[in-house]
Amino acid sequence: MTIRHALRSQPVLRTERLTLSQLGPDHLDLVMAGLADEDAMRLTGTRTTFTREQVGAHLAALPGADDRADFAITGPDGAYLGEVVLNELEEDDRSMNYRIALAGPSLRGRGFGTEAGRAVVAWGFDVVGLHRVSLEVYAFNPAAQRSYEKIGFVVEGRAREVLRHGDQWIDAVAMSMLDSDPRSA
Ligand SMILES: CC(C)(COP(=O)(O)OP(=O)(O)OC[C@H]1O[C@@H](n2cnc3c(N)ncnc32)[C@H](O)[C@@H]1OP(=O)(O)O)[C@@H](O)C(=O)NCCC(=O)NCCS
Repeated sequence: MTIRHALRSQPVLRTERLTLSQLGPDHLDLVMAGLADEDAMRLTGTRTTFTREQVGAHLAALPGADDRADFAITGPDGAYLGEVVLNELEEDDRSMNYRIALAGPSLRGRGFGTEAGRAVVAWGFDVVGLHRVSLEVYAFNPAAQRSYEKIGFVVEGRAREVLRHGDQWIDAVAMSMLDSDPRSA
């Protein structure tokens, strides 16, 4: 199976507490609510204001995409908890970017993000056939960095003062995981 074929036939992933399924147009209201979470926007460095139409068009294009995998995270009671994404495919290098956002402060710190990340990364390496998954996390987000380290991501460097935040300059920490790396730290 090629990388693009595996991404196009994105499966449902199940973990102990979570179900990860295709993110799509049905999630429009939930995703719009997440975009209104100012803390999450700060932590992810998102400054653009997306209209409902723009988000709807984005979500409509996700099912069947062969260059990315966008999962909606749902909890044991079926509630939407957020999204976790593999994107920016570099096919020849078998590499992708990873990003995640839980849908509100009350959902953080309960291990959901780490649990979802472990499942997506394992699928990316074992089924999609990726060699490398990478991400950047701002230095003012140590909880996210810790979650990524628990999944098995390794710090590989620091881009200095890439983000202007109020009167401060914020570094970005580059992290990656290779298919040969231990899965959990
Ligand atoms: C990042 C995110 C996905 C992590 O998922 P999560 O379910 O909250 O993570 P977990 O609960 O598994 O782990 C968080 C870890 O950070 C630790 N932590 C919390 N605050 C911390 C701090 N200020 N400094 C260091 N570690 C901290 C917790 O103790 C926990 O580690 P532990 O299990 O060893 O105790 C989630 O918090 C989130 O969606 N945040 C908002 C959006 C965001 O930041 N996205 C990532 C952008 S790069």
